Amino acid sequence: MLALACDHVGIELKEIIMDYLTELGIEYKDFGTYNTKRCNYPEFAIKAAKAVASGECDKGILFCGTGIGIGIAANKINGIRCVCCSDCYSAKLSREHNNSNMLSLGARVVGYDLAKMIVKSWLDGVYEGGRHQARIDQISSIEKHQTII
Ligand code: RB5
Repeated sequence: MLALACDHVGIELKEIIMDYLTELGIEYKDFGTYNTKRCNYPEFAIKAAKAVASGECDKGILFCGTGIGIGIAANKINGIRCVCCSDCYSAKLSREHNNSNMLSLGARVVGYDLAKMIVKSWLDGVYEGGRHQARIDQISSIEKHQTII
């Protein structure tokens, strides 16, 4: 189950990706926003991020104008590794090396077809573990202790 969320700028792209996920047979839960009325992206980022961090959802995808603000907000939740991507390589590698659990997309940055390709690359990426795990553990440790390693 994927957690989805967006702001008023990202809603159109979110709906395109919802259709794409349905085509792929992937289930999602939509945490809003649900209309184009101007809103504040952290509110929606946090709802989706908490769903991922708690295990209610496996991963999540976020949408705003640049993908940046909503991704920064999501990354404030412990356990979230959200990556803002506008290319397929970064999206895939963020899964393989960084075990990213959220992806953020910029509706004003990527076109619909590229957004779909990025989503597919991200979903298909499999975390490799191994040497990467120690680095992820260090990130988790920063979250727990708020200290610089
Ligand atoms: C909204 O104008 C815009 O700032 C927002 O969608 C996003 O791009 C922020 O990072």
